[in-house]
Formats: sequence, structure tokens, C-alpha cells
Amino acid sequence: SDAYPNLKRDSKFAEISADDVAFFKELLGSESAVIDGVTTDATDDIEPFNSDWMRKYRGHTRLVLKPGSTEQTSKVLKYCNDRKLAVVPQGGNTGLVGGSVPVFDEIVINTSRMNKIRSFDEASGVLVADAGVILETADQYLAERNHLFPLDLGAKGSCHIGGNVATNAGGLRLLRYGSLHGTVLGLEAVLPDGTIVDALSTLRKNNTGYDLKQLFIGSEGTIGIVTAVSIICPPRPKAVNVAYFGLESFEQVQQAYLAAKGQLSEILSAFELMDGRSQGLVIESTGNKHPLEGEYPFYCLIETSGSNAEHDMAKLETFLENVMGEGIVADGVLAQDETQFQALWRWREGITEALSHLGGTYKYDVSIPLSDLYLLVEDTKARLTEMGFVGDDESFPVRAVVGYGHMGDSNLHLNVSVRHYNKDVEKAIEPWVYEWIQKRNGSISAEHGLGVAKREYIGYSQNETMVKLMKQLKAVYDPNGIMNPYKYI
Ligand code: FAD
Ligand code: MLT
Ligand code: ZN
Repeated sequence: SDAYPNLKRDSKFAEISADDVAFFKELLGSESAVIDGVTTDATDDIEPFNSDWMRKYRGHTRLVLKPGSTEQTSKVLKYCNDRKLAVVPQGGNTGLVGGSVPVFDEIVINTSRMNKIRSFDEASGVLVADAGVILETADQYLAERNHLFPLDLGAKGSCHIGGNVATNAGGLRLLRYGSLHGTVLGLEAVLPDGTIVDALSTLRKNNTGYDLKQLFIGSEGTIGIVTAVSIICPPRPKAVNVAYFGLESFEQVQQAYLAAKGQLSEILSAFELMDGRSQGLVIESTGNKHPLEGEYPFYCLIETSGSNAEHDMAKLETFLENVMGEGIVADGVLAQDETQFQALWRWREGITEALSHLGGTYKYDVSIPLSDLYLLVEDTKARLTEMGFVGDDESFPVRAVVGYGHMGDSNLHLNVSVRHYNKDVEKAIEPWVYEWIQKRNGSISAEHGLGVAKREYIGYSQNETMVKLMKQLKAVYDPNGIMNPYKYI
């Protein structure tokens, strides 16, 4: 509630009645498909659907619906639209901008029961699957067929592919496999009036009119519910290697990135950045021993994916020799087996979770020209330090200002780790940070989306004409405004 000081429940939306609950129970059948706190007081079961992964945003729904098919989703939405009941689509509930949980009493429509792989064509690599399939499950299914899901991220064990598409998630290998706007070939969605949009093409090329599926990619549940996805998947690389290294300056991080692109070119599959402080927080939270002896202000993780393990390893070793010889990289390690491979990745993937164990986090997911990428962290740290917020003991609200992210995509995650959420700290960062980004023509949300966290700030990255067009599109798809209200625009 404290998270939404500027929001008021819109009285145009109806309140859920016992009759509504009876309708949904009749439609969806099994008990597990309807979690109902309206006619019973089973509120305990509802809680996880009301609160987000960061436990920063909390809604007050009393009804969670889990349709088991596209047809059921259609009937649910049509009913809600006719009754003017507001809804929130929800996948794995791992979103980081408060978009997946209700603000007030919106009905949660969760996709977890739509979890079947529909088809896979080995020749083309096209997978067609329900929206509620968990990302890791999809990737394991593909692994058994020598293919790879072209998206990977730290929340893979819980997030749904429908949620990935709805947020246009970027992740750890976008550098290599591209964005979902390119890999998603088609999708199936349900509009609020119950219309089933069958755009589940499996074609790579299809220039017949507006590419309407693109509108759903990154729409964050505001125009309809994605019920299935068709996506092109690359062959699983036979050899995957990872290197982790320490560097003395951001200038050298940029040089290393250039060298990696030049020397590893077609086998480079990830180039990730972690600053020293972010790795310190992982140590603090996990107690794990850091892979390098010395301490450095910057660390990078490089992954290669190719078809010949020996060739790739030789290339990676030569690359490391070169960059160390030239004094670009101070120290580095190469994973020697699968366990070390996973362990090195944990130093990057585990930052988000480590931060979540240490108190609150103000998260800024930004895209700015590469040369200025880390300056944002330095400027933020300087500003908060000057204002007296940063310090090692409990009396200072800010524990750390950290930066990490997808260097290869010019995507920085600036995180301000606080002992407790603190309005004064928040006011010191926002809108200052958005102004900083606007001045450099950057994006205030590179990959996490707008949700409720960034809705007020879209104007820092989109002009008035763009916002007006977006509002007009929203009205075409969702004239009653029942889809994920109070969010996005
Ligand atoms: P949810 O959180 O349930 O929903 C997210 C949004 O999509 C909401 O607005 C919701 O209403 C909407 N939505 C969900 N399903 C549907 C549907 N079927 N139809 C229509 N709308 C729907 N993001 C990145 O981009 N890159 C990362 O590297 C990354 N790493 C992460 C690491 C961790 C540890 C965590 C916790 C999150 C990370 N994220 C990352 C955030 C990312 O957005 C999500 O992890 C993921 O894409 C969301 O999927 P989900 O199923 O959990 O969606
Ligand atoms: C990541 O890259 O780790 C994710 O986007 C999550 C985060 O920003 O913390
Ligand atoms: Zn990220």
C-alpha cells in the first residue's frame, strides 16, 4: 500500500461477488483452479499471488484464477470484461517492476495450469508451447532434443515463457541469440472481450500486414493474455566455456569487451559485468569463496558457445593470454568442468538474490551508451554519499551502491541496497536518475519493463507522440481498461 501513494482504486471497476466466484468455480472446475478468499477465508493461500518477488509490492486480491486452456481463458476474460472486473495476468511472478501483482483487488489470472509443450520441429527448431511452461522446463525439453531456448535468465526455474514474452525479457545471452522480438515467430493471445487471437505462425518470414504479435511482446499484460508462444530455437552448442576475470578500471572493461568481440567473435555468447561491490555482497550473503585471489573494482564473465570444445578452449585461452599480456585484464580463471562452469555463473546470476537477502533494493535497469555506462553508478554513489546516506554501520540507510549487467547489450543494473526502504533515499534518487538517463538519450527500462514502478517515468524515454499512440492502442485492445490497470502508461 505504501508503494502506491499516488494511486486510488478506480470506482469504474466492479467488486467481486459470491456469484462471480460461483461462475468461475463452475467454469474452471477443480479446487486448485480457483483460490478464493471471497466466499471463504482461505487468505493464506492467496498471499503469494499478492506479493511480488522482491516483497516490495503488495496487492489485495481475494481471487486467483488458473484457467487450464485458451478456451477457459477466453471465457474468464469475457466474463470479467462484461462485468468490468479488473484483472492481472500472472506467470511465475518473478517480474521486478511490480507488474505481476494486483494494486488493489484485481483478479489474478495465473497461467501455471497452461503448461504443455505443444510441438517441436527438429528440422526448423521451432517450439510451440503454452504460456505457462516454466523457462527451465522448456530448455530441458529442448536439451533432450539438442536444442536451446534462446533466452536465459536467473529466474529460469520459476518464470513462465508467457511472462518472458509479456515482459520482452532480455537476459544473459541476448548478445548472441537476439531479442524475443526476433526469436518469437508467433503467439496466441486472448483479448479482454474473449477473442482468441491466433497468430501462432511458425514461419520465419511473413510480410503480410502489420506484425501484430510484436505488440504483445513487452505489453506486460495490458492488452491481452498470451496463451501460447512459437519460438525459433538454435541447436544446443556442443561446447560451452566460461571465463571470469578481474580488471582495474571501466576503461579496461571496455577494452576487454572490444577484444572479446574481435577475438571470440562468432563463439562469444555472453559478456557480463559485475562491479567489486556487487561481488562483495554475494560473498556477504552466501559466504562463498571468491574465485580470484585479489580484489578488483570490476569483474567480467565471458561465455563462449561453439561446436568444437578444443578449438573454443584454445581461442579462449589465447584471448586471456592476450588481454592479460596487454595489461587489460589483471587476473582470470577458466572453468575446467561443469561444476566450475555453474559456480562461476553463480557469481553473476546470484547478485539479484544476494541483494534480496540483504534488505531492500532500489533497482534501476537502464540502457545508456557504453562509454557512460558505469559513470551512472559513480555519480549515484557520490550523490548519496554527499547527502550522508551511505555508510557501513546500521545508522546509514544505504548499505551499497552497486552496478552489474549485460555489458554486451549496454544494459546496466544500478542497484541501491538499503537496510530498509527509505523515502528520503528514494527521493534523492528519483527522478534525478531518470533525468541523468534522459540527458544521454538512454532508456529508463532496458529489459524489466514499466509495471507499476516506472509508469510515471515513461516520459523520460518516450516522447508525447509515442505515449499518445500507445494510449490509443491500449484503448483499441482493451476499451474497458480491465487489463492490468494502474500500470505501464
Ligand atoms: P510475471 O512476473 O508473472 O509477470 C510479469 C509481467 O508480465 C506482468 O506485468 C504480468 O501481468 C505480465 N504477464 C505474465 N504472464 C503473462 C501472459 N501470459 N500474458 C500477458 N501478460 C503476462 N528480466 C530480464 O529481462 N533479464 C534478466 O536477466 C532477468 N533476470 C532476473 C533474475 C531474477 C533472479 C529475477 C527474480 C527476475 C529477473 N528478470 C529478468 C525479470 C523478468 O521480467 C522475469 O524474470 C520474467 O521475464 C518474468 O516472467 P514471469 O513469468 O515471472 O512473469
Ligand atoms: C539480472 O541481469 O541479473 C536481472 O536483470 C535481475 C536484476 O537486474 O537484478
Ligand atoms: Zn538483467
